[in-house]
Amino acid sequence: MRYISVVKADAYGHGMPQIVRRLMQSGVDYFAVANVHEAADIRHMGMGWPILILSALLPEEDRFLIDYELTPTVSTPEEAQRFNSLGEHHQRAIKVHLKIDTGMGRLGVWHEAAAQLLKTIQELPHLHLEGIYTHFSSADSDIEFTHTQRERFLAALPKDSEGLIIHADNSAGLDSLSGDSPFNAVRVGLLQFGVPPYPNSALGRAKVEPVFSFHARIGLMKTLPKGTDISYGRTHQLQRETIIGILTAGYADGIPINLSNKGYVLVDGHRCPVLGRVTMDQTIIDLTDVETAKPGDAVILIGQHNDGEITTSEFSETANTIPWETLCSVTKRVPRVYVGSREL
Ligand SMILES: Cc1ncc(COP(=O)(O)O)c(C=O)c1O
Repeated sequence: MRYISVVKADAYGHGMPQIVRRLMQSGVDYFAVANVHEAADIRHMGMGWPILILSALLPEEDRFLIDYELTPTVSTPEEAQRFNSLGEHHQRAIKVHLKIDTGMGRLGVWHEAAAQLLKTIQELPHLHLEGIYTHFSSADSDIEFTHTQRERFLAALPKDSEGLIIHADNSAGLDSLSGDSPFNAVRVGLLQFGVPPYPNSALGRAKVEPVFSFHARIGLMKTLPKGTDISYGRTHQLQRETIIGILTAGYADGIPINLSNKGYVLVDGHRCPVLGRVTMDQTIIDLTDVETAKPGDAVILIGQHNDGEITTSEFSETANTIPWETLCSVTKRVPRVYVGSREL
């Protein structure tokens, strides 16, 4: 089984160079990214790694396929012709992966029309069909539909797929992947970072370990009287005399505004609620019950301390979003600290 490592969006916010360098030492067979610019970043780290572009290429980006030896996704006859012309112009074969839309309704040739496009690609002299893939829309929530997508994909594959890379499963798809799968590659993003794709995922229960934690600091503490309104819009009124802590981070760092009056942070093992609206650079929390707290202390937004833990999944659910978005939303302003990766 080949491992196609999805590292788009700055490796899901973790930092492309650090993550990719580590993955290059970890048995990855192929990298997958969203666009040619992300692919170029990987190519500058090393020649020889195959790189698949998952999104559609803009016409002016075609030359990157040659410059950086990249593999585009083909969904339409027009794309096939375009990449074939490029190959002809440069007198070389362009490696492509055909994508089949089995129910995602996004990229890919509709599965009932796949045979025709497959034939077109095979007949074009400057294309080399290296792989065929599909993408699941609901592998985290609808096993039956995922099964339907698998069936449609299997039916659309050529009779003889010997030598082709056949892939479908994302993180959630792995849960329902059976041992006798005819696919010979997986295409995984989220799970690589130790985040399960949904709460009860079998792989999640197997206790994958998150590589990411998210911290802020207490910038200032002060005591305010009962009845004081907190933050913009006065959406919280103190129910008791309260020691508030003002964190040095807000939505401009990746703390979602949806955590206003809903989220928690861990301070020295205590769960402290977010008070009032999260602001651009500062977030207010209740520190009344944390005797040890002092300005400068680190607080955990996502992570673990002793028995306490706020997972990326919990954080995302409270903020009414998904782990993928949470990871991609930690902004440039937040310094990334890589622990236990001295060789990076
Ligand atoms: C086409 C494609 N394949 C694979 C993945 C990886 O999915 P996951 O992060 O759920 O493993 C994605 C993620 O968005 C994707 O768009």
